[in-house]
Amino acid sequence: MIGDSNGAAAGRRPIGVFDSGVGGLTVLEALRERLPHEHLVYLGDTARLPYGTKSPASISRYACQAAMALQERGIKMLVVACNTASSVALDALGKRLAPLPVIGVVEPGAAAAVSARPGGTHLVLATEATVRLGAYFKAIGERDREARVHELACEMLVALAEEGWTDGPIAESIVARYLQPVRDSGVDPDCVILGCTHFPLLAKAIVAAVGAGVAIVDSAGTTAAVAAHRLAEAGLLNESNERGGLTLLATDGATRFARVGGRFLGQRLDACDIEIVDL
Ligand code: DGL
Repeated sequence: MIGDSNGAAAGRRPIGVFDSGVGGLTVLEALRERLPHEHLVYLGDTARLPYGTKSPASISRYACQAAMALQERGIKMLVVACNTASSVALDALGKRLAPLPVIGVVEPGAAAAVSARPGGTHLVLATEATVRLGAYFKAIGERDREARVHELACEMLVALAEEGWTDGPIAESIVARYLQPVRDSGVDPDCVILGCTHFPLLAKAIVAAVGAGVAIVDSAGTTAAVAAHRLAEAGLLNESNERGGLTLLATDGATRFARVGGRFLGQRLDACDIEIVDL
């Protein structure tokens, strides 16, 4: 009996989710859909965005600070909703937060791509840091030896997503400009992996550039599935039937975060809905 109520109390603790900015909200949305009864606390490290152009040492330090801030809020699991931080710091975060389960987005993204196009030609759009580390190249190679993987750093797409300029001629021409060298080199992908959690926000512009017929894959759905599985395995699912709550934290710019984040969450957010925290 005592064990049961302790288990129920543990289940009521929130899942922590972080990214450098609003991009990780794409993963948060998938978590809300898959796990509607879970409480979620999201942290956007907007003061230090972008992560993708920073050194591994800085990215690791920022990611650890974000994770510790969420741990102080009593989370039961951490979802690193940032490919850059997942590529650079997932092992370090796992050790630091143990025994708390820590889930990244690169492995689930690679799994989604391999199941969408087995033996396919994958083009990974990601940040400079993720590309430099060849994170998807390794993760796909381990799952599918027939696959061919090309990686392309598209850092400016992060700024477009944060600005909310996610479709229309500006977004489309910037995506086309990034893809031009790929086309010139004769690479013809049958799968485009959105290897940065900001990029699903630009999916329309990316589809316009690559054309229909190319699979467009991101990590959100598969990451939520992994999170659900790990929670069930650990007996940490929230048993309540009520809709879980959402706490939004950012390290700077509450008004901007509310404006852009609200659009992506499909709900009106005001600056007062965002708590500013110092890491
Ligand atoms: N959204 C992040 C990612 O998935 C990072 C973008 C950035 O801060 O450069 O990689």
